[in-house]
This record gives sequence, structure tokens and C-alpha cells, in this order.
Amino acid sequence: MGKLSKLTPIISIFCIFFFIYHIIITVSSSTPPRYIAVEDITLDCGSETSGESEGMDGRYWSGDFQSKFFPKEEHNLESVTIQTPIERTVIAPYTTARVSYSQFTYVFPLTVGSKFVRLHFYPASYSGFQESEDIFTVKAGSFTLLRNFSASNHGDTMRKNIVKEFCIYVDEVNKKLNITFVPFSDTTSSNFYAFINGIEIVSMPKDLYYSPEGQTRSETPYDSKSHRFYINYNMALQMVFRLNVGGSLILPAEDTGFFREWSEDINYFVHESYFNGESVVLHNPSLMPNYSKIENYTATDDVYRSARTGDYLDWELPVDSGFNYLVRLHFCEIGLEVSLISQRSFQIEIDNNSAKDDADVIWLTGNRDTPIYKDYVVLSKEEKVEDNNKILSIEIYTNHIYPSAILNGVELFKIINPEGPEHNLARPSPASSANNPKTNKTIFLAIGSLGFLVVLTSLSYMVQLKKFTCWSDPYRGKSQRAKALSLPEELCRHFSLNEIRTATNNFHKELIIGQGGFGNVYKGLLDEGTLTVAIKRLNPESQQGAREFKTEIRMLSQLRHVHLVSLIGYCIDEGEMILVYGYMRNGTLSARLFDTNNDPLTWKQRLEICLGAERGLHYLHTGMKNPIIHRDVKTTNILLDEKWVSKVSDFGLSKMGLNNTAVSTLVKGTWGYLDPDYARRQQLTDKSDVYSFGVVMFEVLCGRKALNTKLEHEQWHLANWARKCIEKGTIDQIIDPYLKGKIAPECFKVYVEVAESCVRDQGIQRPKMNDVMEKLEFAFELQQNADAAQEEINPSGVISYQDVLSFRVVEPVLESDSCIELTTSNSELTNPSLDSDGITSTV
Ligand SMILES: *[C@@H]1O[C@H](CO)[C@@H](O)[C@H](O)[C@H]1NC(C)=O
Ligand SMILES: *[C@@H]1O[C@H](CO)[C@@H](O)[C@H](O)[C@H]1NC(C)=O
Ligand SMILES: *[C@@H]1O[C@H](CO)[C@@H](O)[C@H](O)[C@H]1NC(C)=O
Ligand SMILES: *[C@@H]1O[C@H](CO)[C@@H](O)[C@H](O)[C@H]1NC(C)=O
Repeated sequence: MGKLSKLTPIISIFCIFFFIYHIIITVSSSTPPRYIAVEDITLDCGSETSGESEGMDGRYWSGDFQSKFFPKEEHNLESVTIQTPIERTVIAPYTTARVSYSQFTYVFPLTVGSKFVRLHFYPASYSGFQESEDIFTVKAGSFTLLRNFSASNHGDTMRKNIVKEFCIYVDEVNKKLNITFVPFSDTTSSNFYAFINGIEIVSMPKDLYYSPEGQTRSETPYDSKSHRFYINYNMALQMVFRLNVGGSLILPAEDTGFFREWSEDINYFVHESYFNGESVVLHNPSLMPNYSKIENYTATDDVYRSARTGDYLDWELPVDSGFNYLVRLHFCEIGLEVSLISQRSFQIEIDNNSAKDDADVIWLTGNRDTPIYKDYVVLSKEEKVEDNNKILSIEIYTNHIYPSAILNGVELFKIINPEGPEHNLARPSPASSANNPKTNKTIFLAIGSLGFLVVLTSLSYMVQLKKFTCWSDPYRGKSQRAKALSLPEELCRHFSLNEIRTATNNFHKELIIGQGGFGNVYKGLLDEGTLTVAIKRLNPESQQGAREFKTEIRMLSQLRHVHLVSLIGYCIDEGEMILVYGYMRNGTLSARLFDTNNDPLTWKQRLEICLGAERGLHYLHTGMKNPIIHRDVKTTNILLDEKWVSKVSDFGLSKMGLNNTAVSTLVKGTWGYLDPDYARRQQLTDKSDVYSFGVVMFEVLCGRKALNTKLEHEQWHLANWARKCIEKGTIDQIIDPYLKGKIAPECFKVYVEVAESCVRDQGIQRPKMNDVMEKLEFAFELQQNADAAQEEINPSGVISYQDVLSFRVVEPVLESDSCIELTTSNSELTNPSLDSDGITSTV
């Protein structure tokens, strides 16, 4: 009885478990299942009653003795029905067992199709049988489901019941399934017995897991790129793990109609980190998944409502060696910040082999909240050894520095081949491009199809297509993982620190062309001197820098526009973070305006520069699905190439907003350019960029810096001062002296009106970038027309306009100045070194 007392705690936990189970089932069984199974057989083995007993999942279990499935006449009734001892509180099908020293068979007449077969065991000391001598084999049709199985020796956990789940296809020829229990026998002893407590058979759609040739969905060949593997109807599957990643246990009654159980993944989740250091559980309990890519019964909503994310995630699953495995990974993008292609892309490695190089859930599904799954097959390389444990690992990790990987669910099945000489380890069959009716839902075959081109913007298509083709060598081994951060070479090159050192003459002082809070910018020569580049070396100390570095790469790898600076590549080596851009011969707009060594820019040049920067910003705000807010528009971030084409740069602070919503964030930006509305409410909108751009327009017009503390106090803040001057009708007095007489009055009026509207106090009073662009284009046209008219009158003379530039803006009524107060005691603001150049501050 010592054994009994040891068992007692286990038993009580078991009872409590069932009790809770019962309650949950009663509560949750109200919603109808997504899938109604044609066959839903629940057989309570060993029960001689003709009635039914309510079971653990709310279903009723009927006794096997009275049922048509137990051919009594063919058995010599050596098998006995026994009440489960002690644990009288357990419920069906565990209250009774069929136990026998000799083999016995159940015969289930079934419809043609795929079926779940679940075998329920409750190891206990059944009277007349030695508990430890339950060693037996279970066969179903031509499959050996369990070989030399011992429930009592199953070495399990707190839960005492054991459920073994299989998928088996019932064909037209047999239309039935024989399930046979064969006790182990050897010459020395015949004390071994077999037992079973319950058998469940539930039909399923035939292609839920099967993928016979011609309709495979396990489209990713596992160990060879030229082969595919099909889960044919002549194979059986044994479920080994079904995990709700990042979520909690999902009970059979809560499944979509198949009575599958989904476990927590926590016991198998091994987390290591290489770059960002964190793995995060995402949970969105109110999510209503959009089942546009997969059937809505594939998994319960709860599987997709939770996920783990991180830069490196690892699950280690103990399996038997010598078998092939089917791995199904469930994905659904539920991260709030992710809605675009390439915001989250990662690698998948299964059993130490690269399975997918550039997984991107949004790319696969086209949308957030849209579940999808991917099937992979792991082919065994080992000799078949029963019960010889090995670890099958599933690792997902980012190959880029910025996004993290995501996983919502895992299903792992052992592939069981039928008995017989002709079927041993099934080998993959050659791929055929012709078979894919269902696969067009997935990405590999969709590449190149016109349908996809229509759906996606051609830009992101290009980015992705290149990614897919450029990833040739899968990174192996953990030490290399930290290095595996590259973007596709053609789009964004990865330089070694040595290359950068050579390019900049070991970061020679004389090559410094810019400086800022982030570090220095060097001029450099790459590709044997044929390519001039700007090399931005981030200050390694700054933590802030690391995040902005990543943001910049993320933004620039997605964005291509003639008025946005182009990223050539980057270097992340020995703790250095370096970005490499195309070299902009004519430097920053700021230097062109304020550095007296440079020739002054003409008015038309200035208009063109503004227009270009405006177009770049307009593209940011509207060119992608969700607007991107630059957050740091200023003259030092507008660069000029050799043809004076302006390009917006420095995306380190950029934010991707969701459509039409303000983004709540810590206020960041540069004094003098900072939107007062944003500073007050901390709500970032595209109108914040409009404000900063208005400031740039005034700098361009006046030749004054956005913030100049050397001036009289009321003139420090250019935008505020310009508004006051406009109000007083004296704006003509503060324009750049060089521009006097060069600006056509009609152009001036439009320009000033638009600039003034941009720097209005509240975001809603300001125009959209689009309106700014139209007005600026109009102003440019007016200037050109006026210049042409002047030239007609006086073909060789210098163009000059009368000083008729003064006007007052009367509409709308300006409010009292509620702009951010710059006279506060913030000591930083009186620091003379703080001018508008290159200083980013956090308010
Ligand atoms: C089954 O188990 C018995 C007892 O542990 C063992 O002797 C026998 O070799 C096993 N048979 C197989 C096929 O593994
Ligand atoms: C199934 O079992 C029945 C009864 O034992 C037997 O007659 C029949 O041949 C078996 N069928 C198969 C396919 O094993
Ligand atoms: C599941 O999808 C089927 C069609 O594919 C649809 O008829 C059914 O209403 C859906 N069920 C739910 C609960 O959305
Ligand atoms: C997978 O790789 C890890 C680390 O490189 C190693 O420890 C492990 O043994 C490998 N596993 C297999 C199955 O090869």
C-alpha cells in the first residue's frame, strides 16, 4: 500500500484537473463548432453498460461490450472488463478498462476519408494484472501505431491519463478500421498484457493534414531543394506535440470540432538571444482572425491570438529517432507595430537545417490578423531506433537586425509508414511544377504570378523578390547568427569594418564631412575608388543610436524615391554601427544657406530644393500603406546631390503610423523645428512634419536659422518671429538680403502664405503635404512665368522685381501665441552651442 500513498497526490491533482475540465466544458460548449464531424465515435472500453456516460469533454461515451465495434463472438473473452481501481472519481472513458493477456480487436466500419483515432489509456493496477507488465503493440489496418508500448512506464507528468492521437485514411476498399491490441510475448514469460480505456474516432476533412501528390501544401522541400514530400493517404500520422505558442492550454471541447488538445509551449521553449535580447509574448484575446488564407477550422482562434516574438526563439521537442516528421508551423501577425512587408522577416531552422530563409507573415498573408501555416517534413538521417530519444529543434530568428521573429503554434507528427517490405522509409518524390491546385495560397508558387503583382506594390515586390533570390547561403550555427543580419546584397550591401577603414583612410579627420549627436559622417571611396560614399559612423556609446540605426535601415530598405537619400549598405562589426549612403556632392541645405563660404543659392534653386524635399516627404506620408512620419525635418537633413537635386535623409526618428491615427510617443525632434502641438499633446501626426517643413521654408526665404539665440529674444524662434512679421505686414524686412528684388511678388505671396499655414499652432489648421506640394508648384510656376515675362521685356538684363512684397495675412485669425515656450529655464536652450545643426534632443 506504500505505492498507493505515493500515488495519492497525483490522483488528487488528476481529480481536480477533471473537475475543472468538466466546468470549463459545460461553460464553453455553447458555441457551435466550425466543423461537424460525420463520425464522432467515443467508445468506453471495458464498460458493459448499454447506456452512455458523460466524459471529460462533454461527449457521451458508450460501453464497448454492447457496441457493434467489439466482435464478442470472435474473442475467447480472455479480455476482461475491469473497473479502474481507487480512482472512482475519474470519469469516462477512464472508469473502466478492457484488459487482456491475449490479443483483441475492435472493428470500426467507417466512411471513406481521413480520421482522427485517439487511444485513451489510464495506467493503474487493474486487479489480477501486475501494473508494470503492460507491454503491448497496437495495430490499425496496415499500421503499427504503438510498438512495445507501456502505459505504466510512460514516465509522465501530473496527468495520469495518456492520449495517443493518430491520423489514418480509410480507403474505399476496406471502409473499416481494425484496431488490434497485441500483448508482448517472449519465451520466458507470458505475463504481459494489453489494455485500453477508450477509443475515439473523429472524421476530418481529408486534406487537413494529408497532402497526396497533386495537392501538396508541404511545399517546402525539407532536405533537398529539388524534392517534395507528400503526406500520402498510405501513411499514418502520430501527433507528438500540438502547442499553442505563448498561450494557454486549449481543451478538446474548445477545438474547432476535431476535439484536439493544444498544450502550452512553455516546457519546450528554450530562449536565447543574440541581438535585442528579449522574447515577448503577444496576446490579443479579442482578435477575430481573418480566415482568408486557410480554412477556419484549421486551429482555434486562440492559437492565433497569442504568439511569441523575439530575435531568436527555440523550441526543443523530444522525439524518437529514426522517423520522418511533419512539422506544421502556425503564423498570424498580431504585433501592433507590424503591418507592412519586411517589418518582420525571419529564418526558420528545423532540426539544424534551414527550412525557410526569409519568412515574412505579412508577405504570405497580405494582411495582419490573417492566419496561415507552413508544413515542413524532417527526413530522418539516423537508423530507425525505437524509443531512442533525440531532440528535434525548431528555431526561428531574424536575419535582419531590426524585426523579430514570430510563431503562434506548432504541430508535430511522426510519420508512420505501413508495414510491409515495399514501404520502409518513404523517400521524397521529385517535384513537379504541375501539381499545385491549393498551393497558390502560398508564396513560392505565387512569385512571378501576375495576380500577386497586382496585389502588391511593385516596389515591395521588387524588394521581396530580390530578398528571396539573394538569400543563397543559409546561416548555420549559433555563433554566426549574430552576424546574420544582412539585407539583400543588391539592395543593401554589407561591408566589413576593414572595407570601411580602407574607404575612410582609417576614419581620417580630414574626411569628416558632417558631425552630429549620432557621430561623424566621413567621405569615403569604395570599390577601388570608383564609388564616392558618405559613411555615417554611429557613436557606439549611444543606446539610442542602436535603435535609430535599425530604424534607418528598415525605413530605407523599404523606401526608394528620387527625393530620399539612398542607402548603399551598412557595416556592423566589432561593435561599430556604420551606414553607407550615396555621396551628396553639394552637402546639406543648411550649409548651403548658412555657410558664408558657399555661393548663395538663387531663388529658383531654393524653390526647386523645397519642392524636391516636399515631394520626398509627401512620398513618406502617402507612398506606403501606412504613413511614415519623418519627425526630424530640418535643413541639415535635406541633402543636395551634384545636380542640386534635394534628398531627405536621416530616418532614425521616423515612425510608421497606422492609418489616420496619431502615434503617441516620447516627444523627439529638434528645437526650432518642433511642432508645438506635438510637444504639448505628445501625439505625433503627419502634420508635425508639415510644421517642420514650414520652418525650413522660412529658413530658405530668410536665410536665418530655425533657432538663433544670438538674436534678440523675440526673434530666436524663426517660425514664431515670421508669423509675427506676417501679422504686422513686415515679412519683407526679414527675407535674405540676397533675394531682394529676385522674387516675383505673386510667387512671394503664395510662398509666404503656404509657409505660414504650415507653422500654424494646431495640426488641424495646417495643410496636408499634398496641398503644400501643389501650392509650391504653383509658386514655382508663377516665378517662372514672371521671369519669362521680364526676359521678354529686357532679354539681356538682370531680372529685378520692385519691392512690393509686403502684405498681411488676414485669414485665418491668428490666435495668441501658444507655441512652445522657449523662454523657460531650460538651460540647454541658452547654451550657445545649441543651434539648429544636427542636434536632436528629447523633450
Ligand atoms: C519490447 O520490450 C521487451 C521488454 O522490455 C524487450 O525485451 C523487447 O526487446 C522489446 N521489443 C522490441 C521490438 O523493441
Ligand atoms: C478486421 O477484423 C475482422 C474481424 O476480426 C476480420 O474479419 C478482417 O479480415 C479484418 N480486416 C482487416 C483489413 O484486417
Ligand atoms: C467557416 O467557413 C465556412 C466556409 O468556409 C463558413 O460557411 C462558416 O460560416 C465559417 N464559420 C465561422 C464560424 O466563421
Ligand atoms: C544542432 O546544433 C547544435 C549546436 O550547433 C548541436 O549541439 C546539436 O547537437 C545539433 N543537433 C543535431 C540534431 O544535429
